[in-house]
Parts: sequence; structure tokens; C-alpha cells
Amino acid sequence: MNIQIIAIPKIEERRGNLSVIEGDTVPFEIKRVYYLYDVPSGAERGGHAHKNLQQFLVALSGCFDVVLNDGKEEQIITLNKPYEGLLIKSGIWRELQNFSSGSVCLVVASEVYIEEDYIRDFEEFKAFKIS
Ligand code: TYD
Repeated sequence: MNIQIIAIPKIEERRGNLSVIEGDTVPFEIKRVYYLYDVPSGAERGGHAHKNLQQFLVALSGCFDVVLNDGKEEQIITLNKPYEGLLIKSGIWRELQNFSSGSVCLVVASEVYIEEDYIRDFEEFKAFKIS
């Protein structure tokens, strides 16, 4: 699977670090930003694919695993750095798991929230990939 980890520019100072995601950091126009936090130990998020939406995931704090499936193979990516993120193109099934205590997952998205863009059933996802 062609996994793309994108570096987020980091401005390091003795006062602390600053990273910025702007127009040219991700290969899509940013339409929405949301974040997952207070995820209880053992909980899983995601469990769906998108028909069109692209997302860029960043572990702003802590760490978690992203299980990706393109309909052919599965790959697990651990995110644990606030200065790099995972690009998830459309048509990829994702599950987020093993959230560490206090972790925060930032999601930068290419579209506004549209429930019709979701595929929430894995069998439906496999059928979508074949069609
Ligand atoms: P969901 O996409 O299932 O979360 P995750 O994939 O992270 O587990 O969304 C959870 C709920 O939040 C669901 O009722 C839809 C709602 N929601 C919005 O209203 N707007 C949004 O931008 C997102 C991402 C979710």
C-alpha cells in the first residue's frame, strides 16, 4: 500500500516548538478540522471508509495506531509525533486503536461532514472497491 507520511514544518525554539499546517502542507484544500480526545482505554474509532474525502491525521499528543485497508492489504501505522501526519486518501478503510492515555488525534479534512460519503460496512467497502 502506498502510505504517505507528511512532515509538518516545525519551528523549534527554547520557548517550545510550533508546527503549522497550511495550504501547501497537505495535497488538498482544507475544509474542516476536528479532533478526537478523551478516548477511553481500549476504545476504537473510525471503522469506515470514505468515497471522496481525504484526511490528514496527526497525533497532537500521545500515540495511537491507524489500521489501513485498501481492499487488498492491511497496514498498521503508529502515529506519535506532532510534527508529522498520515495522509489517508479516499477509498481506504481505517480503524484507530490503542490510544494512549491523554492522546489527541487531529483530523484535517478535504470536505465538510457529509454522512453519504461514509461507507460504514466492511462488506460494502469491499464491493465498492471491486466496482
Ligand atoms: P464518526 O465519523 O463515527 O467518528 P470516528 O470515525 O472518529 O469514530 O463520528 C461520530 C459522530 O460525530 C457521528 O454521529 C457523526 C458526528 N460527526 C459530525 O457531526 N461532524 C463531523 O465532522 C464528524 C467527523 C462527525
